[in-house]
Amino acid sequence: MKATARAHTNIALIKYWGKRDEEKILPTNNSLSLTLDGFHTTTTVTFEEDLTEDTFVLDEQPVTGEQYERVTQYLDLIRTYAGKEDLFADVYSINAVPTAAGFASSASGFAALAAAATRALDLNVTDQELSMLTRQGSGSACRSIYGGFAEWEKGERADGSDSYAVPIVPADYWDIRVAAVVLSADKKDVSSREGMKRTVDTSVFYQGWLDNIPNDLNAIKLGIKERNFEQVGQIAEANCLKMHATTLGAHPPFTYWHDTTMAVMQTVQTMRANGIPVYFTIDAGPNVKVLYLPEHEALVEQTLREAPGVSDVVLSRAGNGISYL
Ligand code: DP6
Repeated sequence: MKATARAHTNIALIKYWGKRDEEKILPTNNSLSLTLDGFHTTTTVTFEEDLTEDTFVLDEQPVTGEQYERVTQYLDLIRTYAGKEDLFADVYSINAVPTAAGFASSASGFAALAAAATRALDLNVTDQELSMLTRQGSGSACRSIYGGFAEWEKGERADGSDSYAVPIVPADYWDIRVAAVVLSADKKDVSSREGMKRTVDTSVFYQGWLDNIPNDLNAIKLGIKERNFEQVGQIAEANCLKMHATTLGAHPPFTYWHDTTMAVMQTVQTMRANGIPVYFTIDAGPNVKVLYLPEHEALVEQTLREAPGVSDVVLSRAGNGISYL
């Protein structure tokens, strides 16, 4: 009863920002992402009859505390799903997600865990079922089941049975690239989970955010189909700014941006003014991700490295969905 799975992280171009059900992790809006090949988690799950508790080893270090609880609670969900409540597991994970790159390793982490655990238990799940199970570990992770571009359909039902990601186009459809600009290794003040909750509960701008999603989604999907980089980039950047605007309208207000975040945003806009098509997006932290095309890679990397406050730049291409090793 052992299986190994690999999942890549993803970057949202239309952000998931808010839940309608916190326990089942059901979102208030559809989101859309690009899976990235540079950042992945490989997880082996071994269920054994004679284990008396779960263990979790990450990057060769035994994990305890909150991080361990999240994994064992997630395994409870899989055990219940499988009808095997008494079976414990050893979980062994390797993260090839430079943590400092500001990519939520929870996306690749929960996608790999869900895939390995279901395979180890011989559950014959479809991609849709796997995405639905993954969603309940961490919302954004449900999009990492697929390579290339994927959309998480928020669904309407209270039980979450229609809330899962669907593939849009695979990784090899379009060679679009992402530079992760590393600014700060500090732990973030407000987690994405807490930040989106505060925003939903208190932000005077939240309804505006929701009202704009259908337009952004339709336009970006058209841009992807037509491989129209300017259209995809413009919409992604504007959607990111709208998401971050909601945090300023929350109570108490907050922002994920540092002065260096804004310096990189400025650098991107200056490159654009000089004729290089580049666009930024930012998740629930200070680091910036920059979208660019292969022909501009050298220039984009060099310019970003020279921007104030930048400690590293990590380049990535479009990545594949779940694989089993
Ligand atoms: C800003 O998926 O980390 O990165 O569902 O509570 O685990 P939970 O949240 P999480 O939130 C990600 C938020 C985001 C946008 C996105 O990835 O869509």
